[in-house]
Amino acid sequence: MKLLVTGGAGFIGSNFVMYMLQQHPDYQIVNVDALTYAGNLENLKSIEGNANHTFVKADITNAQAIDQLMQQGIDVVVNFAAESHVDRSILEPEVFVKTNVLGTQVLLDAAKKYGVTKFVQVSTDEVYGTLGETGLFTEETPLQPNSPYSASKAGGDLLVRAYHETFGLPVNITRCSNNYGPYQFPEKLIPLMISRALSDQQLPVYGDGLNIRDWLYVEDHCSAIDLVIHQGKIGEVYNIGGNNERTNVHIVKTILAELSKPESLIAYVEDRPGHDRRYGIDPTKTMNELGWKPKHSFETGIKETIRWYLDNKEWWTRIQSGAYQEYYAKQYGSRM
Ligand code: NAD
Ligand code: DAU
Repeated sequence: MKLLVTGGAGFIGSNFVMYMLQQHPDYQIVNVDALTYAGNLENLKSIEGNANHTFVKADITNAQAIDQLMQQGIDVVVNFAAESHVDRSILEPEVFVKTNVLGTQVLLDAAKKYGVTKFVQVSTDEVYGTLGETGLFTEETPLQPNSPYSASKAGGDLLVRAYHETFGLPVNITRCSNNYGPYQFPEKLIPLMISRALSDQQLPVYGDGLNIRDWLYVEDHCSAIDLVIHQGKIGEVYNIGGNNERTNVHIVKTILAELSKPESLIAYVEDRPGHDRRYGIDPTKTMNELGWKPKHSFETGIKETIRWYLDNKEWWTRIQSGAYQEYYAKQYGSRM
């Protein structure tokens, strides 16, 4: 099988490429990534020289480049490429629409032209909006995105749906909860708090810190996508989540305790505009139809993740420079 994986130099994409080469050593993977601030070829060091992995630097909004890649005969497209950070989407929505909506459309057109056997759109629970104190997102929950990021992901999802309904393109959409694990860019909650705590910097917790996210170890997301590729029923949406709801402040306190750092590092800061209160995924369909089950509990996963950041300090200190510093100054000004 030959896969075109987009965004394979980012956090989940790179974990997925490594996972697939391990699970299916005979598969060929063409990995296309524009190497934005979030793309990092260092993530793929362990598979350097693997003849079944080809990296191509290209932008998914570049129709000519994507057409050329698809000409070589791709069986399955797995679309991870996206602008992925909610806070950045509040500062600069335009690039989110370009990549997450137009980029998806470019990929769909090429997939349609060359007749792939499946197009998998890697999406997010954020397209469903926010939950109150009870209930869970199912695949039938209406889309009610609240941030420019989630609206752009919902736009991509709707195009995927439309290409299935209108052109008969064989598609699946996956909607996963918050991932954590190795190679996550240190702008996202868990790696941001680990890296800042290690340098005794204040930890910016938005609002009252009681917003809830449903956390899943990245490898468990990858195993679910693998099952969707092989067994997902054409045209279906699959929710992926580990039933691990935690408040943000609980996550931050867990990290501080694990690193033996004081809770006085926590700084409650102005809330994120449009901040979704609670996410909670109902993964019953994915578990029952595809036999998927997460392997990692949150308690062991978070420990392994903290250990990874302790062991790979060079990886995150190298990327915490230049463009990242500029973004951070814009986001927090002189507040932190
Ligand atoms: P990430 O920001 O770490 O990686 C995104 C990758 O896409 C980067 O390598 C970047 O260079 C690449 N990219 C961005 N724009 C591109 C373009 N125009 N052309 C080609 N490549 C481009 O993101 P992530 O956290 O790994 O998320 C991957 C996917 O999974 C996204 O689609 C995201 O919406 C989805 N998702 C993420 C989470 C999560 O918790 N991180 C949860 C559910 C779904
Ligand atoms: O739910 C899936 C989504 O999870 C993915 O689609 C997104 O790509 C991914 O970025 C993530 O979005 P979140 O907004 O939930 O993740 P983030 O790590 O930015 O924030 C997690 C929670 O922590 C959220 O409630 C905001 C809060 N937070 C975040 C940061 C960066 C803070 O309190 N302080 C911070 O500095």
